[in-house]
Amino acid sequence: MRFSTLIQLSVAFISAASAGARRADCPIATSLPFDDDELPDPFTFNDGTPVLTTDDWTCRAAQINALISSYEAGALPPPPSSLGVAFTRSGSSGTLSLTASNGGPSITFAPTITFPSGTAPAAGWPLVITFEGGSIPIPAGIATMNYANSAMAAQTDLSSRGVGLFYNLFGANATASSMVAWAWGVSRIIDALEQTPAAGINTQRIAVTGCSRDGKGALTAGALEPRIALTIPQESGSGGDTCWRLSLFEQNNGADVQTATEIVQENVWFAPGFANFVNNLSALPFDHHMLAALIAPRALVSFENTDVVWLSPLSAWGCMSAAHTVWAALGVPDNHGFAQVGGHEHCQWPASLTPTLDAFFDKFLLDQPNVSTEFFSTNGAFNNVTWNPADWISWTTPQLT
Ligand SMILES: *[C@@H]1O[C@H](CO)[C@@H](O)[C@H](O)[C@H]1NC(C)=O
Ligand SMILES: *[C@@H]1O[C@H](CO)[C@@H](O)[C@H](O)[C@H]1NC(C)=O
Ligand SMILES: *[C@@H]1O[C@H](CO)[C@@H](O)[C@H](O)[C@H]1NC(C)=O
Ligand SMILES: *[C@@H]1O[C@H](CO)[C@@H](O)[C@H](O)[C@H]1NC(C)=O
Repeated sequence: MRFSTLIQLSVAFISAASAGARRADCPIATSLPFDDDELPDPFTFNDGTPVLTTDDWTCRAAQINALISSYEAGALPPPPSSLGVAFTRSGSSGTLSLTASNGGPSITFAPTITFPSGTAPAAGWPLVITFEGGSIPIPAGIATMNYANSAMAAQTDLSSRGVGLFYNLFGANATASSMVAWAWGVSRIIDALEQTPAAGINTQRIAVTGCSRDGKGALTAGALEPRIALTIPQESGSGGDTCWRLSLFEQNNGADVQTATEIVQENVWFAPGFANFVNNLSALPFDHHMLAALIAPRALVSFENTDVVWLSPLSAWGCMSAAHTVWAALGVPDNHGFAQVGGHEHCQWPASLTPTLDAFFDKFLLDQPNVSTEFFSTNGAFNNVTWNPADWISWTTPQLT
């Protein structure tokens, strides 16, 4: 069923600058009547007109961001009114201590950095920010930060709502979900690195990664923070690099996968209001192909595991295939990679994927622009459910000018 009404319910005209858009105006809606059981078209504005240029895409991305914030993620607050930074280093170990306040209570968090050996590049070391330490092999020449995202926003179970440093600062009733709280923390880390040259990090060469629930978080951070050059979600599954509609389809065809209805009863990764939509996904004016596409034209490579049924492998392949059309439209298809294999446990890195991962590090963090990152593959093990793109992707990919 295709959507028939395209009337904006609550429309606010906000300045191009605040939308991050270059159009003279970019009408942002926080709610949109919508009814589409296929994947929504990323190249059609809220008012039904087509996205034709790269400037159009900047505005369309601002529209998508506002809708995702309103329907499932919650509001991303601005930087704090004060951010104190203290950096210490001993040998290869550093600590970046951040103290944030908005005039009231302050919070402090102190991610640690492991520096490579050898002489730093003139612009500083590239850095991977790892959610809870991550679980991918990081090549030589790249610094690694351990980001304790679960301390920023807890994720034990439904009792975690409003718990964590972020909520100590913004109040337990802040609408931001844990995904958004984690992304806010990543943005403050980059602020702190920018104002601390002594840390020796090249803030133009930052990647984020995490696995499973923390992969969902890494994907969201990449979508919300434009200073992240490379986003690497690993086995992020539903709520990450899969689409809600496709996971439900996979479930309805006999595979026991994580779906939207399950996820809102499991944890607080999404905002409370998302529960209003999980039984009517057709009403969502976006799906996660559009969350991922907020990263474009920056680099995204995601890895999935077909041996773990609940990760919803058909959904990941279909969702990332749909997202890929945005990088293709922007003329940089190889800035978006995907690899999906089996033969390993959840969050254990299979060595067969290291060349793919290293190519993305080489090109986007290690200044080797000519390395090929043309990687987009699956083993097709989709829990015996059939992926038929024509059932889900109704748009043709434009060449944006
Ligand atoms: C789902 O949402 C659509 C669009 O808002 C609406 O027309 C439809 O009645 C809703 N269905 C259910 C079962 O709530
Ligand atoms: C948070 O919301 C709850 C429920 O609406 C309310 O009882 C409580 O007073 C609120 N707390 C703050 C700090 O606003
Ligand atoms: C990349 O390839 C171009 C074109 O062949 C060449 O001019 C450039 O020097 C290469 N850059 C690097 C860093 O190898
Ligand atoms: C898929 O179908 C094959 C052949 O019927 C069967 O052996 C296999 O167990 C099925 N796999 C799943 C994940 O259901």
